[in-house]
Amino acid sequence: MPDDFERMWSDLAPIGRSARTGGYFRQPFLSAERELADWFLEQCVSRGLEVETDAFGNVVAWWRGGGVVSHLRVHEPSEPGPKGDSLPTSAGILTGSHLDSVLDGGAYDGPLGVVSALAAIDELRRRGFLPTRPIGVGVFVEEEGSRFGLACLGSRLATGAMSWESARELSDRDGVRLGDVLEGGSSSLLAGVGTFVELHVEQGRDLVDRAAAVGVASEIWPHGRYRFDFAGQANHAGTTRMVDRKDPMLTYAMTALAANKQARLVDQRATFGRIEVAPNGTNAVPSRVTAWLDARASSDASLGDLVETITRQALERAERDGTSLEVTAESVSASVAFDPALAAAVAADHADGDWPIVPTAAGHDAGILSAAGIPSAMLFVRNPTGISHSPEEHAEVPDCLVGVHALADTLERLAR
Ligand code: GLV
Ligand code: MN
Ligand code: MN
Repeated sequence: MPDDFERMWSDLAPIGRSARTGGYFRQPFLSAERELADWFLEQCVSRGLEVETDAFGNVVAWWRGGGVVSHLRVHEPSEPGPKGDSLPTSAGILTGSHLDSVLDGGAYDGPLGVVSALAAIDELRRRGFLPTRPIGVGVFVEEEGSRFGLACLGSRLATGAMSWESARELSDRDGVRLGDVLEGGSSSLLAGVGTFVELHVEQGRDLVDRAAAVGVASEIWPHGRYRFDFAGQANHAGTTRMVDRKDPMLTYAMTALAANKQARLVDQRATFGRIEVAPNGTNAVPSRVTAWLDARASSDASLGDLVETITRQALERAERDGTSLEVTAESVSASVAFDPALAAAVAADHADGDWPIVPTAAGHDAGILSAAGIPSAMLFVRNPTGISHSPEEHAEVPDCLVGVHALADTLERLAR
């Protein structure tokens, strides 16, 4: 008998958890994330799913309608809903998410979608449902970009949105290249996928404010990661007069303030969450500061304007500080509008009415698959703290179980 949601959830809880912060460190291809990957394979095998992997570490496990059926009863397909004609009719239905985390992240971002996918298959089997279209549970690697810097790396490689030739040169903070970790090549993992449905913890307060346990995604804001390399002159912290300094830390500090102000002015988002300082000594003016800007906006044009304004102000300040600045866009993802008919069909006609359809400013593998032409939808599960990418991220078990049922209902509609 496969494990149920709560059992699976408690199996995962200790893996990669910091005793100091309570947060998770599940960086791709390192021990905690690999332990999760092994756990996932065991769960798939115990359910009789057909496991497929690709050269990048992505996995899809297919339920083709056979396998372990916990108990048998004749399935009575319910009448198609009024929006049933909107559902795509080709190929397999993929669900799932990712198992990696940001540094010191929450338990839910990623794993909730994977555990809920397995639990939804168990639920469909309990219902006696036999899919006429295969249902796959997928795990994409390095969704957060916490190790190799590029978000949704696994799904970008699997869809061909990024080539292995450029990805293999990415390196982590210790200088390990992705090409040293993976053999790489190409992927046909998604060849049989007609639709993708990703369940995810909500990363804001929209569902809390609407008093809804689950919601459906309408769109993903465009977002990008930009590396700001500030260079100056290393010098003595005591003997160098203030007017004689070329201090890149000052230019960076002003840029961080400018980013915050500019984003506030237009109600968009700009964050410097990571910096590296060289030589990083208390008694020396630094020679170099590298800082990464994460910027997000409600339209592609607004994102471009925001980053341009921040860059211009940083360059003006560099001129005054006697420092220099180079800005490199490490990744930019255009806005994604999820298939509106699919979103409406997923959201419609539930026992508790229609689920709300809400936008998100968080990035997801579903956005990459959607941009690659695979009709995709997302289900969100309410997060009472509204906090994410933090140990404080949370979802209550009853809401998670509503999510599992919502996903099972959605898969049943799509795979019928
Ligand atoms: C991923 O969760 C992101 O939005 O950065
Ligand atoms: Mn995330
Ligand atoms: Mn995620």
